[in-house]
Amino acid sequence: MQATNMAADTHRETDTSHRVSSLNHNDKPYHIVLAQQFDRSSIDQLCQMADMIRTIANSRQGGQFLRTMLGHKRAMLYFIQPSTRTFLSFTAACQVIGMPFSEVRDRSTSSEVKGESEDDTIRTLSQYFDLIIMRHPMEGFAEHVATMLNDMPRTIPVMNAGSGKDQHPTQALLDIYTLYRSFANPRAERSEPRYTKNVFAGKTIAFAGDLLRGRTVRSLAYLLCRYPGVRLVFVSPPELKIGDDILDYLGKHDIEYELRDDLRKDLGEYDAVYMTRLQDEHDKSGESKAIDYDKYVLTADMVPDFKSNLTIMHPLPRRHELDEKLDATPYAKYWQQVRNGMWMRAALIATVFNVDVAIRDHYHAYYTF
Ligand code: NCD
Repeated sequence: MQATNMAADTHRETDTSHRVSSLNHNDKPYHIVLAQQFDRSSIDQLCQMADMIRTIANSRQGGQFLRTMLGHKRAMLYFIQPSTRTFLSFTAACQVIGMPFSEVRDRSTSSEVKGESEDDTIRTLSQYFDLIIMRHPMEGFAEHVATMLNDMPRTIPVMNAGSGKDQHPTQALLDIYTLYRSFANPRAERSEPRYTKNVFAGKTIAFAGDLLRGRTVRSLAYLLCRYPGVRLVFVSPPELKIGDDILDYLGKHDIEYELRDDLRKDLGEYDAVYMTRLQDEHDKSGESKAIDYDKYVLTADMVPDFKSNLTIMHPLPRRHELDEKLDATPYAKYWQQVRNGMWMRAALIATVFNVDVAIRDHYHAYYTF
């Protein structure tokens, strides 16, 4: 029995590494589809790049320099699932690094209504654009597109901006970046040294809410496996527990975790709490209505139970699970999280198009003393 399990596990690992190797080109993330594509050094470098871009973008000359980076490329934002933040975050990121962009947000305006397959729509886009940023309701579709684009005469990268209930890797990168900035010593240096230290070791991060269908939590859990010594606590209603695939992955990477069902209990243990809303758009027939979500809310009256330097995160949009009264407290990091997303996505696009080297050189020439 054990041998069979081990064989199945090895098969799954091989399966993930096979998937990762077709998404990476020259051992570097090219199509950005799965959080498992990122190792520790690629995450750390993206965080440094995000910091450099935000520093450079602060001045008129710096902003002008950044906008010369990708003026010769074009991005297509193919967003056929609702989005405010991720869509605007990517458009703002493109503006920061001077990449012109177009959008498709409604399939009813495309030739798909004439019977064209979605695959052919994407193949067509790949002839006009140099990058497809995609939000799609179907799990696995972005990965399918990546494989399809690998076989096109003109291969361009795809970035997964949310794939059904499965993954949201760019959100996870901005979440890591936000946690890093929150946990690191504020007096630590802004550039390289800040992101080489494992600031997650010894920290306990709680995820609360709909962990079964929340793709941001799934992707972030994968990324946190790169930081030995972090401890994860998944707090959810029994019906909305985090998937076993994630727990298996944590186990394989020796990451300590625990499953709980009440956020208020043991709240004082957490260094960060990552809140999520009920993902009821995935209901088949209103089954979420029967779920008691009251134990997965964070309210201002809970402040006395917080650790003194607790970090509160939320991918947003929020509902009642996160009290607006907490917004003005030093614990709230979710509005910074939104802004961090713009810098992280600019860093990611710059890295995929290999202009990160020019940005790094510019930073070292003008911003380090
Ligand atoms: C999240 C998403 O779309 O998965 N939002 C986002 O991208 N910031 C979370 C959510 O919708 O609850």
